[in-house]
Amino acid sequence: MELRNRLIRSATLEGLCGADGQATPVLIDLYRQLAAGGCGLLISGNTHVLEEGKLIATGLGASCDEQLAGLEKLATAVHQEGGKFCLQLGHTGGQGRSKICGRQPLAPSAVKLEQYPEIPHEMDADDIEKVVPPLPPLRPVPNRPVAMPSSYTLRTVIWLIRFCLL
Ligand SMILES: Cc1cc2nc3c(=O)[nH]c(=O)nc-3n(C[C@H](O)[C@H](O)[C@H](O)COP(=O)(O)O)c2cc1C
Repeated sequence: MELRNRLIRSATLEGLCGADGQATPVLIDLYRQLAAGGCGLLISGNTHVLEEGKLIATGLGASCDEQLAGLEKLATAVHQEGGKFCLQLGHTGGQGRSKICGRQPLAPSAVKLEQYPEIPHEMDADDIEKVVPPLPPLRPVPNRPVAMPSSYTLRTVIWLIRFCLL
């Protein structure tokens, strides 16, 4: 990916979505302004791939077609201002709250994190499958890497995926 400069807005959870996880006009306008201000690359805030993996109630989602349509609007706004856009995909893991996830949070280990309130449920192979398969529908760009594993905290699985690199 070629950037116009080295100014990168690191992933920042804005909490500017509704409960439906769709990009709102306010969020889209924020990204447009950041790109118009000269930012070369904008990385989205943590974006859940599964409703059960939501970090905050007003977080951005990539778990259904409606949410993907909103993400395209975000990418388009950035592109129109000459910037590039990356999506940070995540699953909340042990940082989750059942009130937001709608169930006991799912994490690799049933270990409570000091600063978070709940003991998560240890994921089994089926649970992991539920988190990983939502990735492919994100329209990978031909001849480009689809996803690269990353790490956020020890108990949170994060993927950075290149998205809408036109
Ligand atoms: C309000 C806020 C939200 C953040 N959200 C995310 C996030 O969603 N994903 C992530 O990887 N980092 C997140 N971060 C971390 C930032 O991307 C950044 O790494 C951190 O603020 C350190 O950068 P700094 O030293 O320039 O402040 C967040 C930081 C802040 C302050």
